[in-house]
Amino acid sequence: MKLLWIKCLLAVVLSAVTCLSFAEKFAGLADTPAMGWNSWNTFDCDVDESMIRDMADAMVDTGMKDAGYTYINIDDCWHGERDAKGNIQVNKERFPSGMKALADYVHSKGLKLGIYSDAGNTTCAGYPGSRGHEYQDAKTYAAWGIDYLKYDWCDTENINPIGAYTTMRDALKAAGRPILYSICEWGDNQPWEWAQDIGHSWRATGDIYPCWDCAYGWGSWSSLGVLKILDIRKDLRLRQYAGPGHWNDYDMMEVGNGMSEAEDRSHFSLWAMLNSPLIAGNDLRSMSEATRKILTNKDIVALNQDPAGVEAMRYIDAGDLNVFLKPLANGEWAFLFLNRGDDTLEYTHDWQFNLVKDDLTGRSIDFNHETFAWRDLWQGGKGDTNRNLELAIPPHDVVVLRLTPIK
Ligand code: GLA
Repeated sequence: MKLLWIKCLLAVVLSAVTCLSFAEKFAGLADTPAMGWNSWNTFDCDVDESMIRDMADAMVDTGMKDAGYTYINIDDCWHGERDAKGNIQVNKERFPSGMKALADYVHSKGLKLGIYSDAGNTTCAGYPGSRGHEYQDAKTYAAWGIDYLKYDWCDTENINPIGAYTTMRDALKAAGRPILYSICEWGDNQPWEWAQDIGHSWRATGDIYPCWDCAYGWGSWSSLGVLKILDIRKDLRLRQYAGPGHWNDYDMMEVGNGMSEAEDRSHFSLWAMLNSPLIAGNDLRSMSEATRKILTNKDIVALNQDPAGVEAMRYIDAGDLNVFLKPLANGEWAFLFLNRGDDTLEYTHDWQFNLVKDDLTGRSIDFNHETFAWRDLWQGGKGDTNRNLELAIPPHDVVVLRLTPIK
C-alpha cells in the first residue's frame, strides 16, 4: 500500500515537471541562423506539391544543400478548410498527396519542411489562422512531420502578442516534435525585447521588396528595399538582443529576383553579417549561375553560421560608405565595406588609425599592436593590416574581408 502511494506521488511530481517544461521553447534548433528557401517572394499564393518537390530537388542539385540550406518552407495559401472537428486540412487540389507525403519526400532528400500559419483568425491572404486552434494545429503539424513554423500576425485584432506567440510555443512543445518557431509580427511590438525565450527568430521589419532603396506602397503599408530594411531599426541597436537560438530576422532574401548582381551580392553579404536567417526567395529551378554563385558562397555563409553568433555592428556610417564589423570565433573578424551610392566609391582604409572597440562583446583591436591577414571573400585577394587598404567599390556593391590574427 505504502509503495503504491509513493508511486502515485512520483507520477504527480513527474507530470508537473513535464508541464513545467512546456514553458520553454525547443532548444538547439537554431544555434546558428536557419538556412533554407521560402515560397512567398516568388510564388505568392501559387503553391502546390509538385513545385515544392521540384524545389527540394533543386536545393540538392544546385549545391544549395551542400552550402548549408536545409528548410523548404511553404508560406501562405497551402490551407484548405477546417474539418467538422476543427482540424486544419490542406488544399486538396494543390496538395493531393497530403502534407505528410510531401514531408516524407522532403525528408528523403535530407531536407526539412516548413509551413506557415497566423496568430489571428485568418492568415494575411485570408486562409484559416490558428487563433483558438493552437494546440490542435501544432499537433497536426507534428503528425505531418513539419520542422519549421512561420507564424504571422494578420487579423489579430487587439490580442496580446506575447500571449499569442507564447501559446503557440507551448502548443508546439506539447505536440512534442522539434519545430523551429519563426515569429513574424514585423517588429510592430518590439519582439526583440520579449521573444528570446519564445521563438528562434523574430521578423524585425515589414516585408522586403526586390529593390535597392525603394519603398513599394500597398495602401496602408509598404514593402521595403534592401537599404530601407538595413536602416529602419538602425537606432535600436538590435544586435544586442540576438544570439544563438534567437535571431533578428531581416526577412526572406530577394537574391535572384530582379536586382543587379552587385545589389544581390551586397544584400546577401549584409544578411549574412547581420545573422539573419538565410532564407532564399527565388526560383531555385531556373536561377542564373551568377545567382547560384552568390547564394552558395561558402565563405559568406560561414560568417552567418559562425559559432560565436554575434550580429555585426555598423562601425562607419558616412554617407555612401558604410562599414560593418562582425567579431567571429577564435579571434577572427569580418569587415564589410558597402557602397550605398550610384558612383564608384574610392576609399582608403587606414587600419592603424581606425581602432576597433565592440562594447557588446568587449572585444577590440588596436592594429598598431596586432596584425591580421585578410582575405577578400568575393574577389579572392589577400593582404594584411600593416598596409592601408585601397578600395574602389562599384555602385551598390560590397567588399567583404575575413581577418585572421597573425601570431
Ligand atoms: C505577411 C508576411 C509575409 C508573407 C505574407 C503571406 O505579409 O510578412 O512574409 O508571409 O504575409 O500572406
